[in-house]
Amino acid sequence: MSADSEKRLAAARAVTLVEDGMTLGLGTGSTASYAIRFLGMKVSEGMRLRGVPTSEATAALARECGIPLVSLKEAGRIDLTIDGADEVDTQMRMIKGGGGALLREKIVAAASDAVIIIVDASKVVQKLGSFPLPVEVVPFGAAYVQSMIESLGARPTLRGGEANPFITDDGHYILDCAFRTIERPEELSAMLNATPGVVDTGLFIGVTDALIVGRGDQTKVFKRSKQANA
Ligand code: 5RP
Repeated sequence: MSADSEKRLAAARAVTLVEDGMTLGLGTGSTASYAIRFLGMKVSEGMRLRGVPTSEATAALARECGIPLVSLKEAGRIDLTIDGADEVDTQMRMIKGGGGALLREKIVAAASDAVIIIVDASKVVQKLGSFPLPVEVVPFGAAYVQSMIESLGARPTLRGGEANPFITDDGHYILDCAFRTIERPEELSAMLNATPGVVDTGLFIGVTDALIVGRGDQTKVFKRSKQANA
């Protein structure tokens, strides 16, 4: 089974947990896109749903799929968010932001009663850090933050390069920081978030209620602090 089929399976499993009338946080990335397409099918079958998108790209896809959208302000509270991740460890700590939407993803997750993360099996790791940690920064402070992160022993690179930097939906830059291994994610997250110029990081800790992993032709559901076979 390919990673793509595993993503699709995980997404399909997550969508079985969606109930009529829910307000949903719609994640960003290829795995979340599968979920959005499945949700679009639910809407076309008559399910009443509304979505709060975590990026402009997701908003466009959701519109294409016929999912009514509301702003976070209009939604107030979100019942359930379904999103992907770049890496997840055994304590459900994650690296996100490969798709550049980490800030809105973190806000939407925080405003949600429940968060389900859907991944293919390759995303599950013993220790975070092989995937370069995305750090969203204010353009004015990017060089300062870059040198601060270098002093921690990581190799930060400006996403898109100096000539054509990637700009997030909120007008920021992203530094992709190769740490190789992140021994203490909580400490690193606190340190980076305390650095002037940092808007937020792709470390998502204590955010996930359930993780759905597509592995081969099966899905496995992990609930926070306990594991269950799907
Ligand atoms: C976007 C994200 C994505 O969830 C993450 O990059 C995973 O993407 P994909 O499902 O395409 O592998 O955090 O900011």
